[in-house]
Amino acid sequence: MSAAPQDGRPLGLLAELTYRCPLRCAYCSNPVDPGASAGELAFAEWCRVLDEARALGVLQVHLSGGEPLVRRDLPGIVAHAHRIGLYTSLITGGQALSAARLAALTAAGLDHVQLSVQDARAAEADAIAGRPVHARKLAAAALVVRAGLPLTVNAVLHRANIGSVPALVALAEHLRADRLELANAQYYGWALLNRRALLPTREQADAAEAAVRAARRRLGDGRPEIVYVPADLHDDVPKPCMQGWGARQLTVAPDGKVLPCPAAAQISGLAFLTVRQAPLEEIWFRSPAFNRFRGTDWMREPCRSCPRRELDHGGCRCQAFQLTGDAAATDPVCRLSPHHALVTGIVRDAGERPAEPVPRRSPPCGLNSCRAPHSS
Ligand code: SF4
Ligand code: FES
Repeated sequence: MSAAPQDGRPLGLLAELTYRCPLRCAYCSNPVDPGASAGELAFAEWCRVLDEARALGVLQVHLSGGEPLVRRDLPGIVAHAHRIGLYTSLITGGQALSAARLAALTAAGLDHVQLSVQDARAAEADAIAGRPVHARKLAAAALVVRAGLPLTVNAVLHRANIGSVPALVALAEHLRADRLELANAQYYGWALLNRRALLPTREQADAAEAAVRAARRRLGDGRPEIVYVPADLHDDVPKPCMQGWGARQLTVAPDGKVLPCPAAAQISGLAFLTVRQAPLEEIWFRSPAFNRFRGTDWMREPCRSCPRRELDHGGCRCQAFQLTGDAAATDPVCRLSPHHALVTGIVRDAGERPAEPVPRRSPPCGLNSCRAPHSS
């Protein structure tokens, strides 16, 4: 086995505090199985996880979900993270971000907010979210800016909204966002289930990239900075997923399962431990699941002798598993993969079909016990 890269320690922790969420986005990357979110970690357990992460070298914690604001103990979690020196980022849909809640989070030491929007057009955004949420999101963005916190606006791009890139840039400017993240949907969880309706055509993907280039030229060094995550399946060189398996980041799922990426739990044959079973340091350095795809020794041809193997790490293990049933296969996005025709077929199919209605994640929250604020 190759050693873990850098000094072998992670920089970032994705803390998935809950899978509960009042929105019903079809592109959600949460697991489709609602039972996966049973037994959420309690407040004291999250504080211990943060302590262990900090001791392991983590510098940033991304507080995510689901919708992390459905947890009433969120300010306490932020305060603990802040106290031990972690940079804290809240990844939220914003529906429940009232002035009072933001004030509590700011007082607790919150450093950054990433707010999702579903589209720049209100009706279309509400249709994608499955609830009337767009106006509340705009109000939440204004609160964040007024509080003096850095704001990233995030939009997941898919077939029904990828034509809105210029309007999304204009919206982010209007909201005075520091960053705009335009991220093509990643096809895991609900998004994988709904891929037929969500996948853009090649022409749409090319037009979006051109719109991003034009916006960057126009904005120059001004705000917002635009981060673009390209349409992975439309490429023929795979993404360096997670910058390598078990290399820089780790995810702790709501039930405490420790994962190299948010989608990894689906890979059969890998036993992922929870924070209730072992300390983070032991899981990170010594668990078989974290070591399985570290470095390059696990690779087969064509990756094993490829000059790009240290650059893209053979692509995404979850995508390889989803498309071929073998997580050790070369990511089929790669043109050198013997399975590349699977991907070109998926993209061609998107171009040959008329647009379909976008389905939604359902049932709402993925949990009957959700106590998220549903009233609009
Ligand atoms: Fe990357 Fe493997 Fe393809 Fe080379 S063969 S480009 S390492 S996925
Ligand atoms: Fe799991 Fe890429 S999403 S390795």
